[in-house]
Amino acid sequence: MTDARMWLPEPEVFRDEAALFEAAAETISRALRASQNANRRTTFVLAGGQTPREVYRKLAAAKTGVEWDRVEFFWGDERCVPPTSPDSNFRMAQECLLSGLKVPENHVHRIRAEMPDSEAAARSYVEEIRAAFAGAALPRFDVVLLGMGTDGHTASLFPGTHWDENRLIIVNEAPNPPRRRISMTPRLINAAAHVVFVVSGPAKAKALKQILNDPACDLPAGMIRPTNGTLTWLVDHAAAS
Ligand code: 6PG
Repeated sequence: MTDARMWLPEPEVFRDEAALFEAAAETISRALRASQNANRRTTFVLAGGQTPREVYRKLAAAKTGVEWDRVEFFWGDERCVPPTSPDSNFRMAQECLLSGLKVPENHVHRIRAEMPDSEAAARSYVEEIRAAFAGAALPRFDVVLLGMGTDGHTASLFPGTHWDENRLIIVNEAPNPPRRRISMTPRLINAAAHVVFVVSGPAKAKALKQILNDPACDLPAGMIRPTNGTLTWLVDHAAAS
């Protein structure tokens, strides 16, 4: 019996962060253009943390050929903080990407994670996603950008945490502050057409090696295997060491 978990693509390895971020911006804009050639509207799920900052800046500055006014933006996860907080993934994307583009306001679907009732925020995000996909039971995003933590987490899916895999959006607890998070589940992410990981630095080498080489590995970033889409791991030499 072939174990579906055996299959993961070879990562594309770049000599340093600068080359990695350049390649990531090119990979993402190519996937967005491919979607725009086939559809009127393109949906792009953004990652948080620090790694995407430079990638977003390149996407905003470069002549990518992407018609940004036809892209709808979503987030893979968000910290339960105000959108003005330095910890906010929305604020980071706003600063590094969206402020540099002409994007209609109703194309920016941020997670309202500052709501006191995080479960209500998660449910309302599901409704917002469903509305953007004409009520589809399992929405298929065109492009999903993901990072990975040194512990092998992705989005806000942390090792040792559990979630209802029937759900699309969950509330979860991070090991480090800000602890309360809202996140897409692997079920929703794996429905996407193109998933792109961008991972840099030696601190992530151990988790990356486990995920890409150990079929028994159960780290959350290893659970991302698009059911009917492409998966691309873009890493720098330090992370692949
Ligand atoms: C977040 C991200 C998270 C991130 C990893 C890697 O909310 O922090 O969504 O999953 O991608 O923690 O973070 P760095 O890019 O900062 O290493």
